[in-house]
Amino acid sequence: MGSFLAIETTCDETAAAVCTDRPAVLSSIVATQHELHGRFGGVVPEIAARAHVRQIIPVLDAALREAGMRLEELEAVVVSNRPGLIGSLAIGLTAAKTLALVLDRPLVGVDHLAAHVYACHPWLWPDRSAGVAWPTLPADGEIFPCVGMVVSGGHTSVSLFSSPVDYELLGATIDDAAGESFDKVAQLLQLGYPGGPAVQRAAESGDPHAFELPRSFPGGPESLNFSFSGLKTAVLYTVARLNRAPNAGSAERQPAGVAFDLASLEPPKGKLLADLAASFQEAVVDVLVRRCEQAIERTGVRRLCVGGGVAANRRLRERLLELARRLDLQLLIPPLRLCTDNAAMLALGGEYLKRGLVDDLSLDISSVPQRGRRRAH
Ligand code: KG4
Ligand code: ZN
Repeated sequence: MGSFLAIETTCDETAAAVCTDRPAVLSSIVATQHELHGRFGGVVPEIAARAHVRQIIPVLDAALREAGMRLEELEAVVVSNRPGLIGSLAIGLTAAKTLALVLDRPLVGVDHLAAHVYACHPWLWPDRSAGVAWPTLPADGEIFPCVGMVVSGGHTSVSLFSSPVDYELLGATIDDAAGESFDKVAQLLQLGYPGGPAVQRAAESGDPHAFELPRSFPGGPESLNFSFSGLKTAVLYTVARLNRAPNAGSAERQPAGVAFDLASLEPPKGKLLADLAASFQEAVVDVLVRRCEQAIERTGVRRLCVGGGVAANRRLRERLLELARRLDLQLLIPPLRLCTDNAAMLALGGEYLKRGLVDDLSLDISSVPQRGRRRAH
């Protein structure tokens, strides 16, 4: 197999890449829409879909130009067709189907979450020293089998990957995704969008133990599910309490039923703001690290791959590295620009092509993840 085009439009980045099944990335272009969504504090689906319509052709053009390739030289078209925002997915899938039809090339749909895990493949990393690889980079590039955790704006899940195309979901969030909780807390603290990097920045000088915030492990001892909505609410009550007693020290939980006017809440400033951001970040990180540890214990698989936008978080990267050292695991976390949405990670499509797992033009989109191996046509 030569080169293939990869198209990613699941949420609010329009991205295209030219990859090979080695795997290798010949070009990767990402057009973000952060400025468009910033003033709403989160992604507005209709605005996202319209921006994809404007950006898709220039982004595809740029990816081909950077790779020095013409359309006719491509041997397949890969697209992330799930999970994501329906209006956004439809633009990428329509572009991919049109190209596959006109060029008469195979079409492959890949799961966006499996692609986030595949971004841990070090041969995709533009700068191999910018990712986390413990104890060293795997010389043969092998990252499967692994426990794969995806922590993004729309999803939080942990799965057992026996190969790039065979995986089993072990646990997922029952309410907010980890990135969504960063975005919502950032909005409450008036830190801007996207919330993850803003909270991380605000947390830098804060004390992670200043406020006592809940860590939720829903579903009993057998469960590897996640829940972040209670934590978000606890931050809200903490802000409300600080509005009433601005000089209060550590947090007591606000009694249930205490009324406050959400619109008039003022976020804390200075040290209190840094402490609250750091305490929130630490609570999210504690839960994610613990679930990884439990997934490793449960499966006996001693390799951990973590992807998605929240995997860019410095504190999470540090704490996962501590876990890997303590348990003597192999750990892989991609460089930052392969953590957030991109099309280079759709090099995963090469694994499907190698196995003859291709789709036809009836390929559809879905808002929910794929839960395992897809059947070949
Ligand atoms: O994977 P991604 O780019 O898009 C989705 O598939 O959702 O993830 C975006 C999410 C956003 O919620 C953003 O706030 C979060 O990743 N994020 C971070 C950081 N950078 C991005 N969260 C925490 N710390 C960061 N440094
Ligand atoms: Zn994503």
